[in-house]
Amino acid sequence: MFNSLEHRRLCGRRLLTALSLACAASVALATSAERFPGIGRTATPAEIRAWDIDVRPDFAGLPPGAGSVARGQQVWEAQCASCHGVFGESNEVFSPLVGGTTRQDMLTGRVARLTDPSFPGRTTMMKLSQVSTLWDYIRRAMPWTQPKSLSVDDVYAVTAYLLNLSGVVEEDFVLSQHNIAQVQQRLPNRHGMTTAHAMWPGPEFSGTAKPDVQGSSCMRNCPVEPKVTSYLPEHARDAHGNLAEQNRLVGPQRGAVTTRTAAAAPAAAADRGAVPTELLQQHACTACHGMDRTQVGPSFQEIAQRYAHRRDAADYLRSKIIAGGVGVWGQIPMPAQSLPESDAQAIAEWLARGATRP
Ligand code: HEC
Ligand code: HEC
Repeated sequence: MFNSLEHRRLCGRRLLTALSLACAASVALATSAERFPGIGRTATPAEIRAWDIDVRPDFAGLPPGAGSVARGQQVWEAQCASCHGVFGESNEVFSPLVGGTTRQDMLTGRVARLTDPSFPGRTTMMKLSQVSTLWDYIRRAMPWTQPKSLSVDDVYAVTAYLLNLSGVVEEDFVLSQHNIAQVQQRLPNRHGMTTAHAMWPGPEFSGTAKPDVQGSSCMRNCPVEPKVTSYLPEHARDAHGNLAEQNRLVGPQRGAVTTRTAAAAPAAAADRGAVPTELLQQHACTACHGMDRTQVGPSFQEIAQRYAHRRDAADYLRSKIIAGGVGVWGQIPMPAQSLPESDAQAIAEWLARGATRP
């Protein structure tokens, strides 16, 4: 919030920016009671104090108070453990708050496991770089069902308890406004935060990993036509399994095949000889056909078995795929399919070969 001094300093410059709008708006607010009689009123200092509770990394805004680990344990068990687990370890309601940090991390100020691929967990304590954030967040947002209900001393206490669970402070510790800055110096990931990177690090997006908060407008030789594209960066391809298998199988949307690297993707056409999975999904055959389970239509395994003896199986199946039909398997008709003949051919050949799976 601007205090009046800052307001004068900033607005005095008459900048032709969004700031001048903010200045105009704040002037309008200050006089709204006079300009619109009967509508609203000026906020009282007490109301502003109740709202203006942020605690900053330099601890500006931190109210004086103190709380012990022991008291914190009582608060925790009564008001927090039901959702976060007795030791902050639960991921039932939210991801775990505690765990994954080591004594060594407290020395280095960087949580080693954040870069250890064999340790997939990401707890709050692993990521936290400012103890003020933990304090502030608990006071403003927790317990989830009753935010802002804790006393200042209990916020100190329960923060101390979480720090104790993480091995940052001893069991007999009493956290207060006097020693919280020293605690910051022991926080496992205090050096682990940076703003010197792009929104999504990696050169794919911008050519450089430039922080998105330090952009500048192009003034000369600017690209004339912006090229808007959307693609998955290489390093994120495998982050959530194969998206192609997670999309609905009806309708035109198809997820990209993300288990392969982009470079390897064109080779997919070549391995259609094996299982034409992509074709089956692309043409929505899998909306009605399972690999080995009867759905709306017969499974591909059943179809393959039925025509295993037929020499002209591939030709027959190709024409049936395109034309559709009814009565061979039951009374549900298969609508005619509009797909390229070469795709129908590839599927038919695979069925004629026995619909083998990899
Ligand atoms: C009713 C369930 C519930 C209770 C009780 C509860 N929490 Fe939470 N807590 C949550 C949920 C849900 C989130 C995530 C909220 C969000 O991201 O919007 C959360 C988030 C947090 C976070 C932030 C974690 C992060 O990495 O962002 C902290 C710290 C926290 N809770 C501490 C506490 C403390 C301390 C108490 C007790 C005073 C408490 N919680 C009680 C449900 C609960
Ligand atoms: C709307 C549901 C539906 C869709 C979509 C669908 N099928 Fe069918 N399919 C069926 C039904 C039902 C049958 C059984 C028809 C019958 O009894 O004659 C069938 C039968 C078949 C047969 C066996 C034909 C025969 O004569 O034995 C093949 C092969 C086949 N489908 C392949 C495909 C392929 C390949 C696709 C995608 C291009 C596809 N189907 C899309 C419902 C569907």
